[in-house]
Amino acid sequence: MLTEKDFITTTYNSIESASFEWSAPSNIALVKYWGKKENQIPANPSISFTLNNCKTITKLEVIKKSETNDFSFDLLFEGKPKEDFKPKIQKFFERIEKYCPFLKEYHFKIDTQNTFPHSSGIASSASGMAALAMNIMSLEKAINPTISDDYFYSKASFLARLGSGSACRSIKGEVVVWGNHAEINGSSDLFGVEFSEIHQNFKNYQDTILLVDKGEKQVSSTVGHDLMHNHPYAERRFAQAHENLSQIKAILSSGNVAEFIKIVESEALTLHAMMMTSMPYFILMKPNTLEIINKIWKFRNETQIPVCFTLDAGANVHVLYPENVKENVLQFIQDELVGYCQNGQYICDEIGNGANQLK
Ligand code: DP6
Repeated sequence: MLTEKDFITTTYNSIESASFEWSAPSNIALVKYWGKKENQIPANPSISFTLNNCKTITKLEVIKKSETNDFSFDLLFEGKPKEDFKPKIQKFFERIEKYCPFLKEYHFKIDTQNTFPHSSGIASSASGMAALAMNIMSLEKAINPTISDDYFYSKASFLARLGSGSACRSIKGEVVVWGNHAEINGSSDLFGVEFSEIHQNFKNYQDTILLVDKGEKQVSSTVGHDLMHNHPYAERRFAQAHENLSQIKAILSSGNVAEFIKIVESEALTLHAMMMTSMPYFILMKPNTLEIINKIWKFRNETQIPVCFTLDAGANVHVLYPENVKENVLQFIQDELVGYCQNGQYICDEIGNGANQLK
């Protein structure tokens, strides 16, 4: 079992220059991460579906430099310099330097773009940090070719976690668990692990993301996590996440879609209930979020088609359903839900399997 110390690189060579390119997807949590301890350690374990189409594509060029006092990097977003992303990258480099002591020896040119519309309200931090972490691991592999594949992916997830917690679930596997859980072998607070006992019913599961509100969130996830300290329901919530993960583990293996729906919708509403019951309190759902939820419940009741919703920390609704009801559900979305989306926008996605090397 890998420990924190195993991720501290001590022996490595040097190269003059290199370039790499990776894509990494977004992910959608089924059991939610909400609340953390120091050093990006989650307060409870979480599990997610990896997405396929919502991705960040990041190119990294590194050039050896002579002074090694500071980090040095240029950042391009969709081909243009992006100053407002720089503090986040700077902070990320500071957090991971202990594990990648070679960072100050190179100048980095980071060129990044998303496949989903900018400011769609879709979390780009998960895919963005995951794609950057993959590139940094490619650099590590270039200067230390002895590392194993398993180490490569585990450390990529470990580094991504230090950038943004949920990013550690965007590295490898269709379904990923992050956080120690008694019943999941190899699970760790330090990185995500692939969960592979998945029943056929969940293969190619669909996620249509309804873009209800594309504006900036009033409260960032980082602030939200913090509000779980001294939260009146925190301890019970963390225990519940362990229980829900036990249940969903069994559900994903047995293929029980009806039970899946109960846990997933309850988790989404619990996440938002935590926001509403923190101090200060806040609401990230919009009126149209609730309209959509009610429509989904009505449609499910009337048709018995197993479609459900989940939410992340925002107003958008992820509509989840098995592949074999895709046609019916897309028709339902067209007929009844598109009117609640900002400019009628939604994104069709499905389960994918993680980061990919492009170069
Ligand atoms: C609601 O991973 O964005 O999406 O670690 O502070 O970067 P930081 O937070 P972040 O939190 C995501 C929370 C969530 C639930 C989840 O993805 O599990």
